[in-house]
Amino acid sequence: MVIGDIMKIDLNGKTVLVTGAAGFIGSYLVKRLLAEYSTCVVVGLDNLNDYYEVSLKEWRLEQIEKLGGQWTFIKGDIADKAFVEELFGQYQFDVVVNLAAQAGVRYSIQNPDAYIQANIIGFYNILEACRHSYDGVAKGVQHLVYASSSSVYGNQQKVPYSIEDNVDNPVSLYAATKKSNELLAHAYAKLYGIPCTGLRFFTVYGPAGRPDMAYFGFTNKLRRGEKIQIFNYGNCKRDFTYIDDIVEGVVRVMQKPPVSGLGVSGKCEVPYALYNIGNSQPENLLDFVDILLQELVRAGVLPEDYDFEAHKELVAAQPGDVAQTFADASALERDFCFKPHTSLRDGLRKFAEWYKEYYKI
Ligand SMILES: NC(=O)c1ccc[n+]([C@@H]2O[C@H](COP(=O)([O-])OP(=O)(O)OC[C@H]3O[C@@H](n4cnc5c(N)ncnc54)[C@H](O)[C@@H]3O)[C@@H](O)[C@H]2O)c1
Repeated sequence: MVIGDIMKIDLNGKTVLVTGAAGFIGSYLVKRLLAEYSTCVVVGLDNLNDYYEVSLKEWRLEQIEKLGGQWTFIKGDIADKAFVEELFGQYQFDVVVNLAAQAGVRYSIQNPDAYIQANIIGFYNILEACRHSYDGVAKGVQHLVYASSSSVYGNQQKVPYSIEDNVDNPVSLYAATKKSNELLAHAYAKLYGIPCTGLRFFTVYGPAGRPDMAYFGFTNKLRRGEKIQIFNYGNCKRDFTYIDDIVEGVVRVMQKPPVSGLGVSGKCEVPYALYNIGNSQPENLLDFVDILLQELVRAGVLPEDYDFEAHKELVAAQPGDVAQTFADASALERDFCFKPHTSLRDGLRKFAEWYKEYYKI
């Protein structure tokens, strides 16, 4: 696979579909596109499901609306094939960023159907729509970028996690659906020449993030005076990646699709690429909680004399949990000259300040 400036897509004047646009990462991506590319037509799709509070998704959409620009929001489900076909019939998308998915590792044990619907059937519908976007027209979708996840690495011991590593041992259904996305995308890139890039995100956090994620859930509980449970007795490391770093990576990747060409081996390669986007600085869960607490106190979400020791409980790991995540993001740096860099303290500070304002504390 060749990444080069020859195929660079100028997003100005292009029509971009962002699925999962009311979601955490999707809403930031849309805002960035509207702010930076004034002539980019951005179509956002989301089914606004109630996996977590819908009011937060609506709030994110309101923030996008305030920016103006060439923005259209469509409520719909990527698992509805007829709907997806109609959407692709209505617009000729140049770039598609598929972020719509059922996220979360633990919820895949309670509600596996949601994962198969959104992550497998939904993703297949997007691939088919991209494939048929070439029917009868000169130019179809020039680049499909989609979200994969660090969870595909399962309980791999070798660190850091590299895109060259074998990821055939998922430990949750969520991870299995993300790995399946990578396989499906590869087949479509090979069969129909659709340039596809999969991005393995590592624990993304920030203001207006996902309430089901630890930093947000801990904050809600601590504020209510409830105990937080720290899994695997705190023996857990995560490579936390700030939302702005993720969006920077996505925007850079969107503009440079992988192209078919002769690889170093002389074989014709498929227009398909995979990257890790992670901070490459795993943090111990207890250190992370410590910084979160300091920042919540600093922002005034929690009082200065908060008795943290009385509100924490060290418990065993949950099924599907992995002990650590650690991104080797050197391929991203090599091909896109970008490396996530926001420190956990800076990122959690922004989260704490947003939280205070959003919940009017
Ligand atoms: N946040 C992270 O730490 C993280 C890490 C790894 C991978 N990812 C992946 O990144 C993507 C975005 O994650 P996020 O954190 O923004 O999650 P999110 O839940 O905030 O956003 C996903 C959005 O997709 C929508 N959606 C779900 N199913 C849909 C369907 N069938 N049709 C249309 N819309 C649907 C949801 O309503 C939601 O608004 C997901 O694919 C997720 O698996 C996220």
